[in-house]
Parts: sequence; C-alpha cells; structure tokens
Amino acid sequence: MFGAAKHPEKTIMIDPVSRRRTFAIISHPDAGKTTLTEKLLLFGGAIQLAGEVKAKRNRRATRSDWMNIEAERGISVMTSVMTFEYADCVFNLLDTPGHEDFSEDTYRTLSAVDSAIMVIDAAKGIEARTLKLFEVCRLRDIPIVTFINKLDRESRDPFELLDEIENTLALDLAPVTWPIGRGRSFAGTYDLRANTIRELDEQTEGTPVSGAQDEKVGALLPDGDREQMLEELELAQVGCKPFDLQGFREGHLSPVLWGSALRNFGVRDLINLLAEIAPTPRGQPSDARFIEPHEPKMSGFVFKIQANMDPNHRDRIAFMRVVSGKLTRGMKARLSRTGKMIPLHTPQFFFAQDRSLAEEAYAGDVVGIPNHGTLRIGDTLTEGEAIVFRGVPSFAPEILRRVSLKDAMKAKKMKEALQQLAEEGVVQVFTPHDGSPALVGVVGALQLDVLVERMKTEYGLPIAFEPARFEACRWVNSDDHATLDKFMEKNRGSMAADLDGSPVFMATSAFMLNYEKDRNPDIRFTDVKDYQ
Ligand code: G4P
Repeated sequence: MFGAAKHPEKTIMIDPVSRRRTFAIISHPDAGKTTLTEKLLLFGGAIQLAGEVKAKRNRRATRSDWMNIEAERGISVMTSVMTFEYADCVFNLLDTPGHEDFSEDTYRTLSAVDSAIMVIDAAKGIEARTLKLFEVCRLRDIPIVTFINKLDRESRDPFELLDEIENTLALDLAPVTWPIGRGRSFAGTYDLRANTIRELDEQTEGTPVSGAQDEKVGALLPDGDREQMLEELELAQVGCKPFDLQGFREGHLSPVLWGSALRNFGVRDLINLLAEIAPTPRGQPSDARFIEPHEPKMSGFVFKIQANMDPNHRDRIAFMRVVSGKLTRGMKARLSRTGKMIPLHTPQFFFAQDRSLAEEAYAGDVVGIPNHGTLRIGDTLTEGEAIVFRGVPSFAPEILRRVSLKDAMKAKKMKEALQQLAEEGVVQVFTPHDGSPALVGVVGALQLDVLVERMKTEYGLPIAFEPARFEACRWVNSDDHATLDKFMEKNRGSMAADLDGSPVFMATSAFMLNYEKDRNPDIRFTDVKDYQ
C-alpha cells in the first residue's frame, strides 16, 4: 500500500501513517535548496510569500559571533522540521543544515527520513557536498528523487549530466520529465510517462499531447533550437531507463525531474511525484525486534538535540522521530536508557516558522520534546516496551582538536561539561587510553565555535584548542577479541574511548590510517557507528 495515486489532487488517502512523507533535501551549497524549500512550502500553504525562508537565511550568522550563533540556532530550530499538507499527504521536510553550519546533525537528520530530494545545479553537476550526503543516504538505501535545477540558465547537455550522475554515484537514473528548451528558451517540462506538458508550476494539470512531435511542444521552442531539442526529447523517450518503483524504493534507481525553482518550473512535477511514489514511513530495527509503523504502541528515537533557546535556562529540545503508534500530548513514555517513565506534557510540532503544541503525532512525524538534559541523541522512547532502536549513527569526525583549559583547577568540571555537550551531539569526545587530555572531534568547523561559546557562557570555562597530533580516527572492531586486544595494546598511544567507551583508533594522517588498515586485515575500521 503506498501513497496517493496518479492524480494526487483527487485521491482519498487511507490512514494517517500512509499519508506521511518524511524527507530531506540534499545538495551542495547554492544549488537551490532554500529556493526549492520555499516553493514546496508555498504549495502546502505553510508560507504565504516567496522570500520568507530566504529572509531568515539572510539574517544568518557570521562565524564566531555568539549572539549570531544563537540567532542562527533559533532559526534552525524553527526550520528544523517543516510540516505541510498537499494532495492529501502530510509532508515532513527535515532541514539538513548546510553552509558553514554543516555538522553531524546534517548527517544524522538523514537517519530520520524516508526519502530525499537531491538538488543538482544544471551547470555544475555533482559537487562535493552532494556526493558526501548521497553516500550517507546510500548507507541506508534511502530512495532519492533527483531534481536538476536552474535550467533557466546556461546549463550542461542533459545527457552528459545524466551520464555524470550515473557514473559518479553508481546510481541508475530514470527521467520522468524532460526539459522543453534550456536557458533563455526554457519553457516548461514534458512528462515522459503521462505525455503531458506543463509550462509553469501554477498550472495544476498538465496539458495532454500526442508525443514529442505534437505541435504544442514545438510551439514552445524557439525556431533555431527547435529541431535539436525535439530530437533530444525523442531520444530521451526511447533511450532512457523507464521508471521502476521497486528499484527506486530499494535505493538504486532515481527518478529525475528538471526545473527552475526560482522561475516556477518543475516544482509541481516534483511535489506530485513525491505524493505518488515517495515511501510512507518505514519501520526501524531495534535490539529486540523490528518495529513496524502501523503497530499501535508509540515508539520513537531522538536524532537531534537543540539546546539553549534561552541561554539562561538549560532548556533543550529533543527532536524525536515517531516510529510507530500514536503520540498524544500528556502521555508517559519510557526512556529505554534509564527505564524511567517521562511525561510528554508539551510535545511540539513545527509548521515552518510557528511552533504549536502537538496534540497527536503518528509514525513518520517529528516532534520536539522540551527537556532539561534528560534526553540524549540516540535515545529510544516507548509506551513501555524495553527496546533500543538501532540506526542513529555517529560519524567519524573530520577535524580533531585537543582542548586546553585556561584554569587547570577546573579539569574535572571541564570533563563533565564536555560529557554533557557530547551527549547533546555538539561535539564528540575521545579519551585517550594513555591518560593524555581529551580530544574533541567534529565534522564541521562551526561546531568548534559553538563549543567554545557554550563552555564559556554555560559552564564558565574559557577553553582554547590546540592542534591534535591526529588527523583521522575510526572505530575499531574485530570478530576476535584477542586480535582486537592485541591491536589496542600495540597501538596504545593512538587509542581512545568514545562517549560509550567504544575503542577508537586515531591516525596522524590518512596515509597512516590506510597503512594500518592494510597491515591489520582482521580489524574492522569504520567511519560510522550506531548509537547503542
Ligand atoms: P542553497 O540553499 O542551496 O544554498 O541555494 P539557494 O536557494 O539560496 O540559491 C542559491 C542562488 O541560486 C540564489 O541566488 C538563488 O536565487 C539562485 N537560484 C536558485 N534556484 C534557481 C533557479 O532555478 N534558477 C536560477 N537562475 N537561480 C536560482 P543568489 O544570487 O545567491 O541569492 P539571491 O540574491 O537570489 O537571494
């Protein structure tokens, strides 16, 4: 059973869970994620005017300015989850922080979605950040819809672009629309499955045509380019892979749409396609059993913590993805890590800018749970069952620093503070086995700025960073305990424990890391770890 049928406007949906589409947008900075988000929210009526999301973005932080970081966090809380309705579906769009606030949160958010839109700039093709985020999606085989944006500008040959994406990502592509014209002559999209054309997003229904040679198509193209563009369209119709739902759901085939978010081309194609094919909420593995979304009892996991909406109070919002059942305001939930029941007095929903109390939420929804430090990333909440969800990952940091404290008397306090902030996911903390001071690791440099400011303002601990001797680290494991022990003993000066005590090997360079990997085939070096 899945989603809306072919004409989403006319479809009557079945139950609250099957109506949900929880997704994220992945892209390289400047490809058009903000513009596209805004256009999607406009469809859902979640915002009234184009420019609202952008206006927020423009108030963004410059780095290292605490007030601005705070302001930015305020914004990112509000835009962390955007819920809107369209075509009888409830869309939960989870924001993946980009630009300079790129962090582990960006990666972890992908553990809470069921599908992703990959936005690609038609002039640039695959860029570094897209590739990285795609790899994180692939870890979980998240189905991906590709949106090739900025067709209203000078862009690359569509077939060349498709080839590049297929080869770089080892992903099959199936165009479901094709651009009519490009650059200044971009006039709309051709739906390859339905044989309809749509000139602008405002047009709700596509206009039926008899095929590429239909004069309605030709009429949209300028004289000089007409023949070539029509030939391309015909070639796409016969030569490209057909869309295959199963391949998409398994994560190895991506439907492709073309458009211009800025000029209102192709976005309605996109939202209709999401309503039609994007997967409904999936289940989640736990340590005991697989939990299905339609099970009656509520369960969920925390994938993100946002702290300090008000720096004078230690208030935090834990973002929880509901995995099964129904969450109702006022219910009590069991926190698996401690076994304690905690009341959910004020769970919150996020509608674009506004927060509102969540009276009820279903599988696939994301709710914010205000708390004072009780909840950690990776935590499981249930209606009573003692299970721990798997699948909220930690990623090996790309930047490692040694923390130096200006007042050595406060070392114990610093340790506690670092522990708390690591539980929130601000940074990762690694305690070297040889007793030397702790290291912190991050995937985005802004996380270090946030750490300095929070240590100072919340704990009264001025800290600085020293370059660490190490540049890369990996969790290590082996099927054979003795082999792992021997490895750890031999490399004692390079071993550390993470927050949960799991062993981490630290290398002075990527070269040394590879060298050790080659020399120790019985040891697994991993750059992703599930929260336990
Ligand atoms: P991001 O969130 O992925 O970083 O991208 P964003 O939407 O902010 O877009 C980056 C720039 O690209 C913006 O221009 C935006 O207007 C432009 N853009 C987005 N989609 C399209 C499109 O379909 N066609 C064209 N031609 N441009 C597009 P900017 O000059 O950086 O910002 P602004 O001055 O427009 O605010």
